[in-house]
Amino acid sequence: MTGSNKSENVVWHEATVTRARREAMNGHKSFVLWFTGLSGSGKSTIAHAVEERLHQLNTRTFVFDGDNVRHGLCSDLSFSEADRKENIRRIGEMTKLFTEAGVVAMTAFISPFREERQRVRDLFEDGDFLEVYVKCSLDVCEERDVKGLYKKARAGLIPNYTGISSPYEEPEAAEIVVETDKQELEESVDIVLEALRRRGLLSVAV
Ligand code: ADX
Repeated sequence: MTGSNKSENVVWHEATVTRARREAMNGHKSFVLWFTGLSGSGKSTIAHAVEERLHQLNTRTFVFDGDNVRHGLCSDLSFSEADRKENIRRIGEMTKLFTEAGVVAMTAFISPFREERQRVRDLFEDGDFLEVYVKCSLDVCEERDVKGLYKKARAGLIPNYTGISSPYEEPEAAEIVVETDKQELEESVDIVLEALRRRGLLSVAV
């Protein structure tokens, strides 16, 4: 396999331990669950709750959380449009590596731009990338205002705030949709798990 890059003389090495062999050893398939939605919609909460259920089913998982990743891997990035695109590109590549490693990778980033989400989707084979739209009205997210950031954004203290001064482009064909302003957490988690079960992505029946 080759990819475009700025370094010359870089050769792709094929591993003998393949994704298929790792999946066989793990007893489950690897794939990506890409949660997207407004800040405060509940992406991280649901991703971690889904992870808990999958872990109990002996599934190897990892959650990439927007706030955490922005402290490390993406600490050099701001919330400008260009930096948000770079943020999503890096996470996309990272989840690709995790699926190669046989892990179920989950991400909880606003990932507000449709084109960027599509770009990540294009890295994967059909069925390996599942978009989960965590739908919640801006009113409810703003009312929750868990981190107090909507209030600051309304006061003009935070530029480019998604939903206030920067757009959130809703998914048009997400594989899974949960509505956190209408459902309890466990209902949303069940919807995700059921969608995985229907696709044959759970190691055991639930
Ligand atoms: S993304 O747009 O690049 O996908 P990401 O999910 O990493 O965003 O980070 C979003 C979190 O950063 C929000 O939940 C919020 O806590 C915080 N944040 C700080 N500034 C902004 C901003 N301008 N817009 C949105 N979220 C922000």
